[in-house]
Amino acid sequence: MVHLPAIVSNFSTFAQELGELAVRNLQRKASVAARPTGTKASYDVADLGLAARGKQRILWVDQQMPVLARLREQFEKEKPLKGLVMGACLHVTSETANLMRTLKAGGADVACCASNPLSTQDEVAASMVKDFGISVYAIRGEDRDTYYRHLAAVLQRKPRMTMDDGADLVSLLHTDFSAQADDVLASMEETTTGVTRLRAMQDDGALKIPVVAVNDAMTKHLFDNRYGTGQSTLDGIIRATGVLLAGTVTVVAGYGWCGRGVASRARGLGANVIVAEVDPIRALEAAMDGFRVARMSDAAKVGDVFITVTGDKHVLAGSHFALMKDGTLLANSGHFDIEIDIPALTKMARKVELDVTPNVDCYHMPDGRRLYLLGKGRLVNLACATGHPAQVMDMSFATQALVARWVANQGRLPVQVHNVPSDVESMVASLKLKAMGIKIDTLSPDQKHYLSSWSAGT
Ligand code: ADE
Repeated sequence: MVHLPAIVSNFSTFAQELGELAVRNLQRKASVAARPTGTKASYDVADLGLAARGKQRILWVDQQMPVLARLREQFEKEKPLKGLVMGACLHVTSETANLMRTLKAGGADVACCASNPLSTQDEVAASMVKDFGISVYAIRGEDRDTYYRHLAAVLQRKPRMTMDDGADLVSLLHTDFSAQADDVLASMEETTTGVTRLRAMQDDGALKIPVVAVNDAMTKHLFDNRYGTGQSTLDGIIRATGVLLAGTVTVVAGYGWCGRGVASRARGLGANVIVAEVDPIRALEAAMDGFRVARMSDAAKVGDVFITVTGDKHVLAGSHFALMKDGTLLANSGHFDIEIDIPALTKMARKVELDVTPNVDCYHMPDGRRLYLLGKGRLVNLACATGHPAQVMDMSFATQALVARWVANQGRLPVQVHNVPSDVESMVASLKLKAMGIKIDTLSPDQKHYLSSWSAGT
């Protein structure tokens, strides 16, 4: 597929698009950077002809996102984001499309780019543009230059609020677009890796904009990181390889919320799970959760499937590849493609055979062993499958939408990393329970009083 490195301007209504094909073909020649800023809706997607399939998928997952749908109705009436230009750098999936629809219903002018070059669902990107009037700059498999050009295209819209998944957009806002930083009310960060980066910026005194750590909300990481990553990581591995996990030795590196989810779901499928974890408390938790815990140098010799979810670099390195068995599967579910040392793997290999089956590359070692890398070491759940299920993204994205409304009400927050207000968390959890048909008890006044008093004893 030929990806045209241009932003294609879309004038007023999407019905006009066909008639304007000739104009747009000329415009394809212009580079993203050369486009005038402030254009209402512009885009760079793989193929608008894919939109019908994308729309079907967006509406399908919408049924599984009842909390977000409810907020969308409310936003439609109340317009809490009226006139606000918003820039989002998220995985461009059907679930993200429903978040963008919600922000737009709230009155925002939304532009969206991908937070990973390999996670974009091209049909969804096309439908977001064609059916929902959202500016999208994202093409699955885009190279590094295009990826950054797309981020720049979002920032050229001069957003007053941003959403990020991995902090790449905020990083660009601190470098090439730093002149705009003072105008940003706040940015919301979706993932652990991003929050870690932003806290490091805060500690270094480098942070120039207020940030809300959406990832750290309980309605996000307790569900999305654990159940979302847990299921979707294995979904990606299974879709790419068809492997029967039962009976395998599956090694999970990292026992944060994502690692816990992956380890427990792998065990559920019958894998014999080994956890490799550098934090002594987490390692102990893994042991008491019933997992084998080992150093990677020991696990490397016995594992059949390796899954990294640490957020750190080179968790699987040359010394480990040297020990691995023939046929080993290597997958990463951390945000960046640095957890598996791919340059070392490439250097060690006699030959690299691409796409031995879709999304699986074979690294032939000089001694005849074959190591298989899934999704080029990028997030396996999005590179080889469709990411977290909609039911869980419902909670993450409802949290994002409510935080956007809160920020719009507050005005510019102090420049620091903020937590999500607890009433946002309570509202999302309550709405989700309601949507699931679950009723819970409430405390009586007497019980509330008891909990807040200190004098009642034995
Ligand atoms: N991150 C993980 N899964 C996702 C999904 N389905 N949509 C957007 N972001 C995600």
